[in-house]
Amino acid sequence: MTGVGGRTRPALRDRLAGHSVVVTGAGTAGDGVGNGQAVARLLAAQGAAVLCVDLHGDRAERVAQAIRDAGGTAAAHAGDVRDPRAASAMVAAAVDRFGTLTGLVCTVGVGGPSSVLAPPDPDPWADVLDVNVTGALHCIRAAAPALVAAGGGSVVTVGSTAGLRHYQPGALAYATSKAALSGLTLSVAGELGPHRVRANTVVIGQVWSPMVEAAAARQPDPDGYRDRRRRSGLIPDEGTPEDVADAVAFLVSDESRWITGQSLVVDGGATLTMR
Ligand SMILES: NC(=O)c1ccc[n+]([C@@H]2O[C@H](COP(=O)([O-])OP(=O)(O)OC[C@H]3O[C@@H](n4cnc5c(N)ncnc54)[C@H](O)[C@@H]3O)[C@@H](O)[C@H]2O)c1
Repeated sequence: MTGVGGRTRPALRDRLAGHSVVVTGAGTAGDGVGNGQAVARLLAAQGAAVLCVDLHGDRAERVAQAIRDAGGTAAAHAGDVRDPRAASAMVAAAVDRFGTLTGLVCTVGVGGPSSVLAPPDPDPWADVLDVNVTGALHCIRAAAPALVAAGGGSVVTVGSTAGLRHYQPGALAYATSKAALSGLTLSVAGELGPHRVRANTVVIGQVWSPMVEAAAARQPDPDGYRDRRRRSGLIPDEGTPEDVADAVAFLVSDESRWITGQSLVVDGGATLTMR
């Protein structure tokens, strides 16, 4: 893997040896690699056993198969994070398969136009909060006993800088849900900390993912749109799902054993600029 300035990055193959992690939203619609998929692949490449969970079982299986083809350990599981019983089933599947659970990464996130002055009909507000916030809570509640039983572990949710500063008109529900994840993280960290279970949120900026690429294609000037996103931060490089995965892997690993309740902004510095 190539790092900054063309330098070679070490593979860190055993960094997560002994870890077993559930990744929700691990599939990607269509071709390419989304954030959830990149997380699942990197955790497995660093030695974790990964349960790839997605609403669409075929997407999860595609990712699990790719991990196995690369020599990693992974299984697929179809489940809807909106359903607490499905959340329990995904945790049970991971423990059954891998013997323990040391990590949960909640990457599922959906959007939908929502605003204060012109609420659409139907308004996706309730659905967006149900998936992005309540869905994450269902998974965390389901995973907590297993993480405690493992002697400690890590919960990582995937937030967005849309929850930190105004993003764009019509993002009311999405932005609110992502801000809520940082709040949820604080309470989870407080309650589970005594059990050495940490909770952190990776607050991601304008990453170029297949989901964003599809949205860009609907813009009048897709190339200009991509270029504006690329230039939005302090670092003149486009963010990728692999950048998100790197941050998540650190927070899953024992290297972050003393870090909890944090919202780690991964955005190339975009929230620090006036651009
Ligand atoms: N790409 C960006 O610029 C960006 C920026 C900020 C935050 N994010 C966040 O990153 C996360 C992942 O994004 P992505 O690009 O990988 O998305 P994606 O659309 O590629 O993948 C999300 C997956 O979640 C699954 N899913 C949807 N609803 C589900 C449910 N109820 N239960 C289980 N699975 C469900 C989908 O089937 C899909 O495979 C989201 O939380 C998103 O909000 C992305």
